[in-house]
Amino acid sequence: MSEQRLKDRVAIVTGGGRGLGEATSLRYAKEGAIVVVADLDKEPAESVAKAIQDNGGRASAVALDVTKRDEVEEVVTSTVNEHGRLDVMVTFAGVALFGPALDCTDEVWQRQFDVNVTGTFLCAQIAARQMVKQKSGRIITVSSIMGQRSGDRRMSYGTTKGAVIALTKQMSGEIAPHGVTINSIAPGPVKTKMWLEANTDVEASSAGYLGHIPMGRLGQPEDIANAAFFLASDDCSWITGHVLNVDGGFIATGVRDGIF
Ligand SMILES: NC(=O)c1ccc[n+]([C@@H]2O[C@H](COP(=O)([O-])OP(=O)(O)OC[C@H]3O[C@@H](n4cnc5c(N)ncnc54)[C@H](O)[C@@H]3O)[C@@H](O)[C@H]2O)c1
Repeated sequence: MSEQRLKDRVAIVTGGGRGLGEATSLRYAKEGAIVVVADLDKEPAESVAKAIQDNGGRASAVALDVTKRDEVEEVVTSTVNEHGRLDVMVTFAGVALFGPALDCTDEVWQRQFDVNVTGTFLCAQIAARQMVKQKSGRIITVSSIMGQRSGDRRMSYGTTKGAVIALTKQMSGEIAPHGVTINSIAPGPVKTKMWLEANTDVEASSAGYLGHIPMGRLGQPEDIANAAFFLASDDCSWITGHVLNVDGGFIATGVRDGIF
């Protein structure tokens, strides 16, 4: 069996019940971490925790709404009470409410910000307070390529992801002297439930992306879990305030005319 590189680290994965958060929870557990799978929907979180336990790993499931400060505090406090510390906080919980910019309502705008920005803020701040006391810890936010480039129907979503990138950079300097890092993963398209629901014409959206991804494929949840592993690992001890695009080259690439 290969060496477990997160052995005994204590990690909270928000949005861990499915999609990218599920893949990351499974990867962390495989690397020896104790994983708290936190999700608005407790049932899928319980299935992920059970899958980990059935495989010999350590995990528990909790219901968590990341928009509620008292709930985030409770999850961090109970994790620390049970395991003595918190090493990693990864914030996959998010929503993607796509629609034309000119039709975006105040309600959609607000909901998008509540979950993606306020949720990230609360998880990062409350985790950081604990990690600063410990003098160590890793916070990993989840932004998007859409926080850096525009996409049709993605105005409110992309704006929240741009804010997550700004939050990551803003927080990094104050916590760095205490041994705590914060970095962001900016995933490219991965066909999770969120992606399939937000991209109502899956074929058109897939084709739209593929024209801009020189690596020639959409992402897999494991591509994102690999990045989440790296950012939590010892190999990443001198990196903070960074945005790691995991996107098959989407952000780096401009014009593609196929003339080589
Ligand atoms: N899939 C992609 O292509 C893609 C691309 C870029 C960024 N992302 C980001 O990655 C993250 C995960 O996306 P995914 O594709 O796995 O989506 P998903 O919808 O499959 O999973 C999101 C999870 O977050 C949970 N959640 C939603 N609101 C919550 C709340 N208030 N509190 C706690 N949990 C909540 C959901 O229950 C769900 O389990 C999101 O932040 C998303 O914006 C995804």
